[in-house]
Amino acid sequence: MTWTVDSWRSKPARHIPEDYPDPAALAVVEAELSGYPPLVFAGEVRTLRASLAEVARGKAFLLQGGDCAESFKEFHPDNIRDTFRVLLQMSVALTFGAAVPVVKVGRIAGQYAKPRSAPIETKDGDTLPSYRGDNINGAEFTAAMRAPDPQRLLKAYGQSAATLNLIRAFATGGYADLRNVHRWNLEFVSGNSQEHRYRALADKISEAINFMEACGVDGGDVRAIREVNFYTSHEALLLGYEAAMTRVDSTTGDWYDTSAHMVWIGDRTRQPDGAHVEFCRGIENPIGVKCGPSLEPDELIRILDVIDPKNEAGRVVLIARFGADHVADGLPPLLRRIGSEGRNVVWSCDPMHGNTIKTEVGYKTRQFDSILSEVRNFVDVCRAEGAHPGGVHIEMTGQNVTECLGGSQEISEADLSSRYHTHCDPRLNASQALELAFILGDSFKDNRNESGEK
Ligand code: PEP
Ligand code: CO
Repeated sequence: MTWTVDSWRSKPARHIPEDYPDPAALAVVEAELSGYPPLVFAGEVRTLRASLAEVARGKAFLLQGGDCAESFKEFHPDNIRDTFRVLLQMSVALTFGAAVPVVKVGRIAGQYAKPRSAPIETKDGDTLPSYRGDNINGAEFTAAMRAPDPQRLLKAYGQSAATLNLIRAFATGGYADLRNVHRWNLEFVSGNSQEHRYRALADKISEAINFMEACGVDGGDVRAIREVNFYTSHEALLLGYEAAMTRVDSTTGDWYDTSAHMVWIGDRTRQPDGAHVEFCRGIENPIGVKCGPSLEPDELIRILDVIDPKNEAGRVVLIARFGADHVADGLPPLLRRIGSEGRNVVWSCDPMHGNTIKTEVGYKTRQFDSILSEVRNFVDVCRAEGAHPGGVHIEMTGQNVTECLGGSQEISEADLSSRYHTHCDPRLNASQALELAFILGDSFKDNRNESGEK
């Protein structure tokens, strides 16, 4: 069957709302969006694909992170800056440990729509549609707020554009200059337990740059010191929006989803004959596929046959999300099959979604130790099977929230209520995120030392 930007509409689609009170109004908004400027350019997407191809070859590492769900309420320049900064700091820690380039991809500037485990929610005897993300409906538990509203798509587009604009300014306008590596530390909100460790690392980097400059190289002339490549991503869930943002690239004649550099297919919408796989097969963006415990090796190959028939390195990122206790059993069959079929994929680890628990008083949370243990198990299993543990995909924020338990701040169940701000799943805070990066960086360093590399 030939692909068109609308061919997904005739396929079974899960988790796309069908209860818009006025479907004609939705169509009007989608038509309007299809005339709006693209948020990203095809050339940038191709650069990301080339970088991901390096990850697939074992020569680079992918760091992907951000909110579970962006919201209209938390939209603020400080929040954008803080998330961006922590991702930069994590990337420095990982680069130092792994001694390979880190490809930086935010879950940002478009991560609004959420698949939900139940379509309805009941509270005190009242039943309403579940909250599905700020680009669909509102989180407040009232019938008016829970009704899908197409105008929210325009607001989400505007917020994505403004977010991306600020990120681009930070990435290339001086903020991300490695010679500012110390300044990023000064912005840490109090309570960041990683401050000292980060300062020591920043000292080493500054020394290396000073040495380089003393030798006559001006850091300002070196793009890799002055600027970073930073990419955006979100789940390609709400296909009406994605299709409206999908355009033909005039240089190549290929289709690109210009809502983000990379998109992924969620664990609940990855049916090989479903709408989400159909939509993604026609766009040239790198495609993530969440791989959970229910994914059989045969089904994974069927998905890859559809979205990556040419087996191109940099096209597909497989994001394993098994849970700390299941990755050692669940992942090897997938790794072996991918290996025996010679598929050129990136393997990344989402240590968040298989480790969600509920406290007695009802907070959705995650233990830092479970997250860490899933990443460690993922790395071990990949190495044992001869695959490159190529990346991590995490839910985090630059804010000092109390949503995940543990870490060196020792956040306890009693602490959760003090700063629990997420609109969906619990995120690592700035300190926990950086701690994870340091531990991971250390393990890469140990591995290099053991294998005798410099
Ligand atoms: C997510 O990434 O927020 C998500 C819903 O993940 P998954 O599809 O893996 O459950
Ligand atoms: Co989530």
